[in-house]
Amino acid sequence: MYDGVRLELSRRNLLISSAATVAATGVAGSAVAQSSGSHMDYTSKVALTVNGEHRTLDLDNRTTLLDALREHLHLTGTKKGCDHGQCGACTVLVDGKRINSCLTLAVMHEGDEVTTIEGLGQPGNLHPMQAAFVKHDGFQCGYCTPGQICSSVAVLEEIKSNIPSHVTENLNEPSQLTANEVRERMSGNICRCGAYSNILDAISEVGGINA
Ligand code: FES
Ligand code: FES
Repeated sequence: MYDGVRLELSRRNLLISSAATVAATGVAGSAVAQSSGSHMDYTSKVALTVNGEHRTLDLDNRTTLLDALREHLHLTGTKKGCDHGQCGACTVLVDGKRINSCLTLAVMHEGDEVTTIEGLGQPGNLHPMQAAFVKHDGFQCGYCTPGQICSSVAVLEEIKSNIPSHVTENLNEPSQLTANEVRERMSGNICRCGAYSNILDAISEVGGINA
């Protein structure tokens, strides 16, 4: 009997303390929601140069560069594949260097120069790499192609600038433009159609190597 009463009291105390915890959590939660709704500004003005044109955007701070390009500037040449930095479909050039635009916030690029596939060249005035992809059939469905081409252009610059890769054999000597170097450096750009050998032929032609 004594044990029963004690057990009953324990249960009551437990229920009371649980209810108090839930109430406290609820109050804290709504306080956070309120303060974030009324006191914080979630948008920023971002000025950047895209394909040579000065653009100013009002963006939610959480907007990726990829979404800013596609949804706000309607430059849909840059593709969203995985949206997780794993396929390279969203590759663009920022200040001449290639990046996955899905992995970076637009607000981090205030003042930067962004080049997308549309800025590299246009029908009738193709960039040599775009022309080489056409000539060598470096695509099938074409979804990965803008990213492949932006990446390829940057790869040739990286080798020219002597930036080593994982397969660079001698770090004390200038980087060599070899098929192996190109394969390694392009490994972040996935092609589900498997156009890899033609892509390599296109890059090799522009770079001046025998694949
Ligand atoms: Fe950016 Fe796949 S969409 S890496
Ligand atoms: Fe189709 Fe590369 S051409 S995914």
